[in-house]
Amino acid sequence: MIYTKILKPTDENISCCASLIKSSDIVAMPTETVYGLAASAYDKNAVAKIFDAKGRPQDNPLICHISNFDMLLNLTCKMSNLLYRIAERFWPGPLTVIVPRSDCVLDIVTAGLDTVAIRFPSHIVAQKLINECGFPLVAPSANLSGTPSPTTAAHVYDDLKGKIKAILDGGTCKIGVESTIIKVDDNEIKLLRPGAITIKMLQKVCKNVTADITIFNKPDENIKVISPGVKYKHYSPKANVILVDGSLSQFKKYISDKLDNNTFCVVFDEDQAHFKNNVLTYGKDSLSQAHNIFSVLRKVDDLKANTVFIRCPQKTDIGLAVYNRLLRASGFNLVKL
Ligand code: TXA
Ligand code: MG
Repeated sequence: MIYTKILKPTDENISCCASLIKSSDIVAMPTETVYGLAASAYDKNAVAKIFDAKGRPQDNPLICHISNFDMLLNLTCKMSNLLYRIAERFWPGPLTVIVPRSDCVLDIVTAGLDTVAIRFPSHIVAQKLINECGFPLVAPSANLSGTPSPTTAAHVYDDLKGKIKAILDGGTCKIGVESTIIKVDDNEIKLLRPGAITIKMLQKVCKNVTADITIFNKPDENIKVISPGVKYKHYSPKANVILVDGSLSQFKKYISDKLDNNTFCVVFDEDQAHFKNNVLTYGKDSLSQAHNIFSVLRKVDDLKANTVFIRCPQKTDIGLAVYNRLLRASGFNLVKL
């Protein structure tokens, strides 16, 4: 059993975590989206420890995190004009690109795919840690596979205590949902996972932006998915989640005979006064809902709820990211009123 330390992100502690990573260990780091579990992208044994600690299926590839453009050039064999424009406009920031991989990328990182996922985070602690290491860091979200992503050091500790040596505590993540993932081709962008970089923003650098069907639909077992992560259950509390799409009055009517001691509802801030008991809120607008959603899903489990009815968020801009995470948390259990 390993003793897990939660460390303030001082320069000294960041150096200490870089030393751990250089000696094949894994540590949790804050990013602007969610906390990541970091290892050297060039160290096979260290990357294997990540799959182990998270209980992550081996065929689900990892994102390489960089802190300068030289690292990007090392990881991909194709620096297209469009990729250059995207990098210039959105990095550092909450955007991951899927591009053709170079020979230095390990098979274990890409799960054998011929593409690699790359992101340049804007969080200063993540940047300092990558700089101090001098090589890219792979970092999936620092939760156990399947559970809601961690947006505080305490969430990481709850999931991974005893499995990792250190967590750099950068406070609560500003955005709260994982990065937008896009596949970049010569003149076209395919959105694979919605996030804080929205379709509208992407359309400013490329006219041809399409959303992958797996954002809205349960992937069919027979269809080859572009992003292996979509095959797995994600973001789920232990409670049964039901996403309910309708107006406040429809929602109230729908759940009126369903609430009991172990059944909760999660609504928008302004709805709260309409419910007496067993109510949680997750924000007043899409930005705050993104910020709060994963901690609310964890709270549902702290309350030992059996079932939770969640009022469906807006499906535009960053709201699309919240909607996508809730669809998956509910196992696509969506009730349309
Ligand atoms: O905001 C984020 O992206 C966070 C922070 C820590 O940076 N990281 C994160 O990593 O969300 P993870 O591993 O939880 O999600 C990465 C997703 C997975 O669904 C995986 O299948 C997909 O990215 N992915 C990675 N490499 C890919 C590739 N070459 N092609 C398609 N999908 C890929
Ligand atoms: Mg994840």
